[in-house]
Amino acid sequence: MNQNKGFYITTPIYYVNDIPHIGHAYTTVAADILARYMRLKGRKVFFLTGTDEHGQKVEKAALQRGKNPKEHADIMVKNFKTLWKALNISNDAFIRTTDETHKKVVQEILQRLYDKGEIVKRKYSGMYCTPCERFWTEKDLIEGKCPDCGRDVEFIEEENYFFLMSKYQNALIEHIEKNPFYILPESRRNEVLGFLKNKPLGDLCISRPRHRLEWGIILPFDENYTTYVWFDALVNYYSALKYLAPQDTEWWPPDHHLIGKDILTTHAVYWSTMLMALGLPLPRNIFAHGWWTVEGKKMSKSLGNVVNPWEVIKKYGVDAFRYFLFREVSFGLDGDFSEEALVRRINNDLANDLGNLLNRFLAMNEKYMKEKIKIHLEETEFSKEIINLIQEIDSETLWNEFKFNIILEKIWQAISSTNNYIAKTEPWKVAKESPERLSLILFNIWNAIRIITVLIYPFMPETAEKIWKALGLTGYSIDYRMLNWETEIKEALTEKIEQLFPRIELKKEEQTKANTKEEVKLEELISIEDFMKIKLKVGKVLQAERVKGSKKLIKLIVDIGEERQIVAGIGEQYSPEELIGRSIVVLSNLKPAKLMGVESQGMLLAATGEDGKISILTIDREVNPGAGIK
Ligand code: ME8
Ligand code: MG
Repeated sequence: MNQNKGFYITTPIYYVNDIPHIGHAYTTVAADILARYMRLKGRKVFFLTGTDEHGQKVEKAALQRGKNPKEHADIMVKNFKTLWKALNISNDAFIRTTDETHKKVVQEILQRLYDKGEIVKRKYSGMYCTPCERFWTEKDLIEGKCPDCGRDVEFIEEENYFFLMSKYQNALIEHIEKNPFYILPESRRNEVLGFLKNKPLGDLCISRPRHRLEWGIILPFDENYTTYVWFDALVNYYSALKYLAPQDTEWWPPDHHLIGKDILTTHAVYWSTMLMALGLPLPRNIFAHGWWTVEGKKMSKSLGNVVNPWEVIKKYGVDAFRYFLFREVSFGLDGDFSEEALVRRINNDLANDLGNLLNRFLAMNEKYMKEKIKIHLEETEFSKEIINLIQEIDSETLWNEFKFNIILEKIWQAISSTNNYIAKTEPWKVAKESPERLSLILFNIWNAIRIITVLIYPFMPETAEKIWKALGLTGYSIDYRMLNWETEIKEALTEKIEQLFPRIELKKEEQTKANTKEEVKLEELISIEDFMKIKLKVGKVLQAERVKGSKKLIKLIVDIGEERQIVAGIGEQYSPEELIGRSIVVLSNLKPAKLMGVESQGMLLAATGEDGKISILTIDREVNPGAGIK
C-alpha cells in the first residue's frame, strides 16, 4: 500500500431543505467514530461532510421561506455546522456544493465526459417525480405513483443529456463480485447485485432544462441546461480533495463512503460508473446503514415525531446520545428510537457499569492510597483477561466493517470483568492484610480503566477525557500506545470527579406502587398466612452512597426486579463501594419511611452480633434480582 495514502471517510452531503435530525446525526457520528479511531491508530485522516445545496428540493424550500436559494442555504448550513460542533464531530472539512471550486470541478468533469463521448444528447420522455427529481418508466410506477415516495408523477417529453451508464453494467457487476468489501453490509451488496444482474441498466439523465430547474450548475457545453443534482452532489467526494484537503497527502480513493440505505443506488451504481468513465479508482467501500424509526413509526413532519438531536443532547448529554445510537442496534440494521430505551442504556450501561466502576475505584484509591498509583508490572489472571479482550476489540476488521455494537459489547465485557475483579479481590479486606497486594489490585483496576478509556474515546470523546483526567493522565495523549497493558507511565495521582452519568430517576408512582399495602405487624407466634404477608426478595445493589451528614446511613439503589431506594444503618461496618454488586435480602413490602429526610422504600435484612456489629444477609450464589425468598 502507498505509504502516503491517508484514510479518507465521507458522509452524505445533506440537503439544506430542512433542519438536521437524528438520521443525519447518526451517519455523521458513525463517520466520526471511525475517523477518531483511525487517528488514534496514528493514521492521517481526512473526514469530509457537507451540504447538498442545488436542485429542486432546495429551490422549493427556499421559495416557501421567501428567500433566494443561496440565502436560504446559508442559513440552513449554520444548523448543520452548529449541530456537528455540539455533537463533537471532528470533520476535517465541510463542503458546500455552492462553493466556487466545487462548481468548477463539476463542470470540468462534465466537459471531460462529454469530450470522451460518455455524455450524449437525446430525446426523452418519461414519468417524472418532481420531489424525487427522477424519471421513471411506466413499469416502475406503483399504482401510477412514484415507487419511491408514492406521490404523483407527470409525463414529460424533452431533450436532455445522458451519461451512458448502461455500458458499464458488466464491469460494475464484476467489480462488486471481485471486491466483497466494496458494498457492505452483505445484504445490501446482494441487493445491488441482484438488481444489476436481473435488469438492464439504463443510461442516466444528467441534465434538466433551465426553464424547469434554474438552481444548479450550468452544463459547460450547453447553457440551456442545469446539471442533475445527483451528478453535482456525488462529485463532492472528488472535488473536495482539490481545495479542502491537505495537499501533502494522497487521499484518493476514499476508504469509506458512509451512507444510509436510501441512497445506495446513487452511490453503488451512478457514482461507481461515473468513476469508471473517468478512469478513476473506485472507493474501497460503500457502507449503507439502516433506518431509524421512532417508537415503531416512520419519522415524519406530519406525525410530528421527528427526533431533534438538540433536544436529546440537552436532556441527556452528548455522549449518552452517541453511545445509545451505536449500542442499541447493530450498525447496518434498522433501529427504533425511544426515550425509554435511551434511559435504560444510561442507567444500566453508563451509570451502573461504567460510572460505578470509576467512582468505586476513585473512592478506594483515595481512601487506601492517598490517590497515588504505583506501577506494577507482574502478570495476573486479570491482566491476561483484559489483554485478550483488548486484542479482540482493537481489530481493524471489526472497525472497518462498522461492527460498532460488537465493539461496544466487548468493551462492556472488559468493564464487567473489572467490576468482578473488585468483587473477587475485595480490596477493603486486603487493605487490612497486605498493603503491597492492595497496591497491585488498585493498579490493575486503574490500568484496566485506562485502556477501556482509550477504547471508549472514539464513541464518547468527552467522557473519555474526563476519565483520563480522573486517572491522573492529563500529561499523556489518548493514543494507540495507551492500548498496551504495559505502560511507560511512571506514576499517577488520581482525582475524584462528579458522577459521569447520574442515574435518571424512574417515575415515583411506579416505584412506590407496591409499597402502599397495609403495615405488617408481627406477634410472637404467627401463622403461615401471617408469614406469607412478608415479601422478601433478592436484591442486587446497583448503587451505594453515604447519606450526607450521617455516619451510619447508606443510601442504596437496589434492583429487586424493579429499582428501589433503600436507606440502611450499616455505614459503620460497610463502605459504599463494597456493597455495590452484592445480592442482598430485601423486605420489599414495607411501608416507605424517611430517614434523615431520605426516603427508604424497603429494608435490607441484617444480623446484629453480640458486639453490636451488623452483618448483612447475602445470597451465596448468582440468583436473579427479584427472586422470591421463603
Ligand atoms: O440524500 N435513519 O440528503 P438527505 C437513518 N443530499 N439515517 C437517516 C435517516 C433515518 N431515518 N434519515 C436521513 C441526500 N438519514 C443527498 C445525499 S450524497 C452525495 C447526497 C441520513 O439530506 C442517511 O445517511 O436526504 C441518509 O442517507 C441521509 O441522511 C440522507 O440525507
Ligand atoms: Mg432524503
